[in-house]
Amino acid sequence: MLAERVGFEPTERFQPFTRFRVVRIQPLCHLSAHFQKKCPQQESNLHRRFRKPLFYPLNYGGVQPVPFAGDRRIIGKNPRWVKGAPGLVESAADLSYQIPSCIITSVNTQETASGSIRETVYLNNSATSFPKPEAVYRGMDHFFRTYGDSPDRTGPHVALRSASLVDVTRERLCRFFDGPDDPARAVFSYNASDALNTGILGMLTGGGHCVASAAEHNSVLRPLWHLKERGVTTDYVPVGDDGLLDPADVERAIGPQTKLVALNHASNVTGLVQDIASVGAICKEKGVPLLVDASQTTGVLDISMKKLGISLLAYTGHKSMLAPTGIGGLLVMEGVEVMQTRFGGTGFDSASRPHPDEYPWRLEVGSVNLSGVAGLNAALDYLEEHTPAEIHEHEMRLYDMLAAGLGQIEGLTLYHPVPREKKIAVLSLNFEGMHPDEVGARLLSEHSIMVRSGLHCAPLMHEALGSYPDGTVRFSIGALNSTEDIERALNACRALVKP
Ligand SMILES: Cc1ncc(COP(=O)(O)O)c(C=O)c1O
Repeated sequence: MLAERVGFEPTERFQPFTRFRVVRIQPLCHLSAHFQKKCPQQESNLHRRFRKPLFYPLNYGGVQPVPFAGDRRIIGKNPRWVKGAPGLVESAADLSYQIPSCIITSVNTQETASGSIRETVYLNNSATSFPKPEAVYRGMDHFFRTYGDSPDRTGPHVALRSASLVDVTRERLCRFFDGPDDPARAVFSYNASDALNTGILGMLTGGGHCVASAAEHNSVLRPLWHLKERGVTTDYVPVGDDGLLDPADVERAIGPQTKLVALNHASNVTGLVQDIASVGAICKEKGVPLLVDASQTTGVLDISMKKLGISLLAYTGHKSMLAPTGIGGLLVMEGVEVMQTRFGGTGFDSASRPHPDEYPWRLEVGSVNLSGVAGLNAALDYLEEHTPAEIHEHEMRLYDMLAAGLGQIEGLTLYHPVPREKKIAVLSLNFEGMHPDEVGARLLSEHSIMVRSGLHCAPLMHEALGSYPDGTVRFSIGALNSTEDIERALNACRALVKP
């Protein structure tokens, strides 16, 4: 098992979290008034959620869970379980800090339903992988302590080593994705959304037509919806009853004005992998660049840009690539030119008013995220040693166990659990009679299972599945999950449906 091979002791994997239950929340009007003033968007999200008398975790509406740091004060008297917002907090004081004007008036630090602290099982790897391989933590720490200086912006000594790490990582990425021959075309970004913005806006600056699909994440949809106001038109190819795109539909949607086809490699809702090779062949024949969002597949599927006919590939470090947040990139094949949409410092040629045309600076502005690149580099070591195929096989073995177990529980709807040969280890489901948010919150508060509920930033996909607007509960397995994690998740789901 991968988790064992990299030497993780189960107890080292997580700091224990302390769960709390909110025993009283202030009336909705109080909450609304606060957020209306401070942040209308959050107000509306919270308003929607708190209208429903369910269990809600605190990490909704922009409030993030934080690990427990030891303050076990119980504020208020007679804590008891009532509807409210179970979640994870550092201390009682932290609660009032996180939600000003304090909707929480009392906290109960009794741990789980059984009263014992248990390790949290993390099954939300599609959002971000956690934990990372030890080598990634160590690689970042070592680099940042030793060389963390800025290439092109300091004297030669330390910066040379930073520059060589950045250059080497670009070369490694080109090899990893069998992409451009010129490593300068491996442009770094903050994450996949940033890379997709660069690619989509840069390919459609002068207007034109784009083909995308119903399987897209908001990181593709929102730039396209934004460009609609600037005259760019888009056809969204539907997914069939099997959750997959028909490449012939993509072909039909391509017209003389089409400047870009932008497609998701694997859905973050269903885990279904699209037939990119067939679309790539069509795009090649039609002479239209294909941009692929490989956020969910990088690190678990072998991706050859050349073989699949991909012109532009957007990836992110922090998901199955097992690298940190804040680093990702866009690889641009030779023959495709992405227009600049951002301008700024590059550390050289400072007297020139126009931003340089050459890659990577053409699409990179400001200082590179060096510690992110160091983490990415260490993650590439890990992926070279274990290989995406091996990691995928490990995850799919756990996926089979999860899908088989869930399939035996009555009252669950599983969304496209098969065909497994077209899947990555992501499974969306719903529990009859329970809102997905309630399921997610109860899995966390009662069983210490961390999953994700909702629309997962892919509203069109849920419309296709019939799960819009409430969404689904999503289990996403990572390289460092174990069979024990899946057993615990299955037991938790069985307990939730017990009358
Ligand atoms: C399919 C897909 N595309 C894009 C993204 C955005 O990734 P990032 O957070 O790295 O911007 C995600 C993240 O959930 C995703 O699943």
